Amino acid sequence: MTSTNDIRRSFLDYFGANGHTIVPSAPLVPHNDPTLMFVNAGMVPFKNVFTGLETRPYKTATSSQKSVRAGGKHNDLDNVGYTARHHTFFEMLGNFSFGDYFKEQAITHAWTLLTKEWGIPAEKLTATVYHTDDEAFNLWKKIAGLPEQRIIRIPTKDNFWAMGDSGPCGPCSEIFYDHGDHIWGGPPGSPEEDGDRFVEIWNLVFMQYEQEANEIVSELPRPSIDTGMGLERIAAVLQGVHDNYDTDTFKALIAESGALTKTATDGDHKASHRVIADHLRSTGFLIADGVLPANEGRGYVLRRIMRRAMRHAHIIGAKEPLMYRLVPSLVSEMGVAYPELVRAQPLIEETLLREETRFRKTLENGLRLLDEATVDLTEGGTLPGETAFKLYDTYGFPYDLTEDALRSRGLTVDRSGFDSAMAEQKAAARAAWKGSGEKASDDIWYDIAERLGGTEFTGYAATSGEGCVVALVKDGKEVSSASAGEDVIVITNQTPFYGESGGQTGDAGRIMSPAGCVNEGLHLTVMDTMKPLGRLHAHVARVDAGTIEVGDNVRLEVDVERRNAIRANHSATHLLHAALRKELGAHVTQKGSLVAADRLRFDFSHPEALTHAQIAAIEADVNAQVRHNEDVTTRLMSPDDAVAAGAMALFGEKYGDEVRVLSMGRGDDASYSVELCGGTHVRATGDIALFKIVSENAVSSGVRRIEALTGEAARLWLTERDDKLRQTAAALKTTPDDVPARIAALVETSRRLERELAEVKKALALGGGGAAQAAGPEKIGSIAFLGQVIEGLDPKELRGIVDQNKATLGSGISAVLAVVDDRATIAVGVTDDLKGQISAVDLVRAGVEALGGKGGGGRPDMAQGGGPDGDKAREALDAVKAMLAAVPV
Ligand code: ALA
Repeated sequence: MTSTNDIRRSFLDYFGANGHTIVPSAPLVPHNDPTLMFVNAGMVPFKNVFTGLETRPYKTATSSQKSVRAGGKHNDLDNVGYTARHHTFFEMLGNFSFGDYFKEQAITHAWTLLTKEWGIPAEKLTATVYHTDDEAFNLWKKIAGLPEQRIIRIPTKDNFWAMGDSGPCGPCSEIFYDHGDHIWGGPPGSPEEDGDRFVEIWNLVFMQYEQEANEIVSELPRPSIDTGMGLERIAAVLQGVHDNYDTDTFKALIAESGALTKTATDGDHKASHRVIADHLRSTGFLIADGVLPANEGRGYVLRRIMRRAMRHAHIIGAKEPLMYRLVPSLVSEMGVAYPELVRAQPLIEETLLREETRFRKTLENGLRLLDEATVDLTEGGTLPGETAFKLYDTYGFPYDLTEDALRSRGLTVDRSGFDSAMAEQKAAARAAWKGSGEKASDDIWYDIAERLGGTEFTGYAATSGEGCVVALVKDGKEVSSASAGEDVIVITNQTPFYGESGGQTGDAGRIMSPAGCVNEGLHLTVMDTMKPLGRLHAHVARVDAGTIEVGDNVRLEVDVERRNAIRANHSATHLLHAALRKELGAHVTQKGSLVAADRLRFDFSHPEALTHAQIAAIEADVNAQVRHNEDVTTRLMSPDDAVAAGAMALFGEKYGDEVRVLSMGRGDDASYSVELCGGTHVRATGDIALFKIVSENAVSSGVRRIEALTGEAARLWLTERDDKLRQTAAALKTTPDDVPARIAALVETSRRLERELAEVKKALALGGGGAAQAAGPEKIGSIAFLGQVIEGLDPKELRGIVDQNKATLGSGISAVLAVVDDRATIAVGVTDDLKGQISAVDLVRAGVEALGGKGGGGRPDMAQGGGPDGDKAREALDAVKAMLAAVPV
């Protein structure tokens, strides 16, 4: 038997040997079409090559493209398990010509591969052509020698293939395989065509036109070829079975599911085993391509697929989570062709185990409710919509899971009842939200999110991508377009721009029209990205050129250098947090954090200032982790599991059902840092390059703040410090190494000089021959008086001088003024024998008044005061003398 892996290989080898470049499958999440949920055909990654927008180094190509049809326009989810040929995940084999060969060569290749290489008997094959395509009709006759009755003209859209309402399209020719008359059915176009006897195995599309809104608008630059053959179908043909689920890959997965649950794979549980095998494939491939279960967008489609499989595991009686135990079989069947499965195996297993553990908690109760609600229903009955809504809301049953659960009993669900229950709940939530006192301007975000859903963030894996403009907001109001010069907030269905949250700054960058778009000249600068309601990514932008409109597809490019700096600062913050706890103790908890492009700031609880030694140790620790350069890993967990795994959770913080857990660095027996975090991080710690703490201080009692830099910013900071040190050394005429010793010496010298200067001034005042002293004591009435004004004298010296003057006088009064920087201080001393007659306090007050000041105080024998008018020092002395003269003695 030819294995599915061999068939895929021989298809690619055949076209490779015929000059086609073998192109690896593109990821399931499309990079070039924001309107498409998943890649659903082999030509999707080549869309722009057909229309001429993009050129590749090859003219012909071949691929085996991973495809998912479970959500969006093509949704096969509901049929999986109940038919022979529906899958959520399948592989499409294809050969492509971009303006190289056309119909004749395409038909020749298809015929040669099927009948010569693979040996399928010609009489088993039938072809269809578009009813007007005489050329293709004649080619089938000429090349394959098919009799005319086996070349069937089809007048319907079945033989005119289009990628979607817009995009490349053209007439097509399909090849059918006749599984034999033991199966009911007739050839295409016949009344029995819906039977299962004739199965379409290959579609050859003659790409000729481009359409917009379902209308052909132009011819492609050159006629091209796009073909698609479902690998699972051709495997069934070549392995001599009628049912895709009887091919080797599926048989192996189904056998494993039977073995692990000890159940028969035929009989009652046949459909369940098929659902499990199919959904295992889509789940594994989606997770490997970066999709994780979520409550919105692609993640919700994945969750629906996973939960549907989990219900079937429950039906066949699995007592424990089953799906994750099937992953090794999937990897052994398909890992060689798709190495991404091998790389993602641990993540796939973990994600499945977590989801199944969680869902099983509510699954049984939900199924019980469903049984009770349907006990009275007979075949053809309808489950009330509110019950389906309760199952969704309380038990996590996606709508299609409820439908699936009722299908085998011939029951349906009242969809409109479900929708109105959902609408009611939304209205109630809206009313409650309005009452919460949020800003009125936030209403607009609520309306947009309710109407259009949240923005899907694609920026963990990419820094650019396409998005569809779903809303524009200008001056707090929704608008339909914005033109050059206008400021506008742009909301797209998906974006790689991180919206400010969790302390991390929003991304900046630009928005443009995708290459080759009609609106070629569009350009917006994105200054910042906000995240209103935690669901929408709001690009705060200015239109530089062109006009942006709701409905446009745009290209979003994050400023990568800035994002890289933010990543480094964010990862360094985690390492700093861990280092602080290690150096200072487990009482350290995060009190606040800011991760910007140019720096990071971290507030934490700690009772006292950090010593220099502690700061140095923390810096050394973080930099050691940077040098280890270990990969940073991200996992998705429930908050409880994350905390059990040692993650530092922030007390009082609200977490969703699922949290991202970031591990980085090398600890004693686990990662150095494990934290819950939704931010963007470096790939490996070495990307941080360098970590430098630049300040440490108090924010409030018991809370300290560290500011730090990483990478280039840290280098520049150190360089600037170094420059300053060199300038200092040059000014001191020494080397940087000698600066500390030289400064210590200078400080010592300056202290000594200050001391000496003070001594000199004092000596000068006491008899060094200053102008005031030269006047000597004088007599005011019968009292001896000694007055002095000393420029530059430290006022602290005044009392000493006055005391000395009193001693010199024996009996008398001395007034001394010190004038420094225009300000004067006056001290007056009265010897003990006179203080009964006149108080030093009164005399000082007279002086102070003359100096433009107020008051002055002390005791009768010694008083002091001052005033701002230093140039009135002489007048102050005169005022003292005048008062003295007036004293009756
Ligand atoms: N693009 C064509 C299809 O998907 C081949 O059927």
